[in-house]
Amino acid sequence: MTKTRAGLTALGAYAPEQILTNEDLEKMMDTTDEWIVTRTGIRRRHIAAEDEYTSDLAVRSVHNLVERHGREALDGVSMVIVATNTPDALFPSTAALVQDAFGLKAAAFDLLAACPGWLYGLDVAAGLVEAGRHEKVLVIGAEALTKIVDWEDRSTAVLFGDGAGAAVVEAVPERYGLKSMVTGADGSGARHLHHRSIGTRLPDGTELADSLYMNGREVFKFAVRVMETSTLEAVEKAGLKPADISLFVPHQANLRIIDAARQKLGLEMDRVVVTVDEYGNNSTASIPLALRSALDEGRIEDGDDLLLVSFGAGLTWAACVLTWGGA
Ligand code: ACO
Repeated sequence: MTKTRAGLTALGAYAPEQILTNEDLEKMMDTTDEWIVTRTGIRRRHIAAEDEYTSDLAVRSVHNLVERHGREALDGVSMVIVATNTPDALFPSTAALVQDAFGLKAAAFDLLAACPGWLYGLDVAAGLVEAGRHEKVLVIGAEALTKIVDWEDRSTAVLFGDGAGAAVVEAVPERYGLKSMVTGADGSGARHLHHRSIGTRLPDGTELADSLYMNGREVFKFAVRVMETSTLEAVEKAGLKPADISLFVPHQANLRIIDAARQKLGLEMDRVVVTVDEYGNNSTASIPLALRSALDEGRIEDGDDLLLVSFGAGLTWAACVLTWGGA
C-alpha cells in the first residue's frame, strides 16, 4: 500500500503596507542604520497599523492565497491552525476568527511554539492528513509583534516586524511533499526570550503588562547551533545530502545567523532565500513569506527539494525537507 504524503498545494502571504525603515528608527532611538545592517541585515520592516491585529493579517494572507489559487483552494478545509505568538486574545483563538471570515466548516485552534510555530503547524497538519483524519488543513503563521515590542529597548525594537503567511496542506503524489520533519524544544532556555502578557487587541488603549524580552547573545548562540544540527538531521532523514538541497529557506531573524547556517551546510548564497532585509523578523510569518517571495521570483521549480528551518522562544526549533509541487 502506498503511503499518503502531505504537501503544500496553495500559498499566500501578506505584509502590512506601513513600513518602518532604519532611518525612521534613528529618529526614535539611539541607533544607526549602519549598526542595524551590519549586526542583523535588516533595512526595513512592515508594521501593522494601530487598528490592524494578528487576525486581520492572517485573514489578508488567506485572501492573497485565494487571489492566487482561486476560492476552490479552500474547498474542503476542515481545520484551521494559526501559529502565532501575538494572538488577538487568549480566547477566542485567532484561528476561529479566520474560520469565520471565510465561512469555513472547520475546526480552529491556535498553536504557540514561537518562531517555528508555522513549521510545527505543518507537522500537525501533515500528520492529520497522512492519517486520513483531515483532507485539507489551512496552516497560517501570523504576527503583530510590533505591538509587544519594548520601544525603549533598542536591542530588540529594531529586530521585529509584522506579517502573515497561509498554506493549504493536503495529500500530494508521493514524490512531492514533506519528506522529513524534525522538531524539538529545550525549556531550560525559557528565560532568554519571553513575553508574559496575553493578547494584543486592546481597543481601549490599555497598555500591555509586559513587553518582549530577549537575551540576544544567548539566543544567537543557540540559533547557530540548532540551525546546523536540525537541518543536517532533516536532510539525512529525507535520505538526502546538503548538496541535494535546491533552496534553503531559513527563519529570517538575522543575516549573520542565516549565513553561519548556510556555511555549515556548504551552500552558496544563490541557494538561500533572504527576506530579513525587507521584513525583519516576523516570527511564524517569516518562512511562508520567504517561500512566497522565492516562488514569485521564479526561484522554485516543480520537484525542488527545499530545506526549511526555524528557531525561537521556548527554546524551540523545527526543520524539514519539502519537495515542492504536486498540487
Ligand atoms: N543600535 C545601536 N547599538 C545597539 C543596538 C542598536 N539597536 N542594540 C544594541 N546595541 C549596542 C549594545 O548596547 C552593545 O553596546 P556595548 O558594547 O556598549 O554594551 C553593542 O551594541 C553590542 O551589543 P550585542 O548585544 O553584543 O550585539 P550583538 O552583536 O550580539 O547583536 C543582536 C545583537 C542583533 C540582537 C544579536 O544578538 C542577535 O541577532 N541575536 C539573536 C536574536 C534572534 O535571532 N532572535 C530570534 C528570536 S525569534 C522569537 O522567538 C521571537
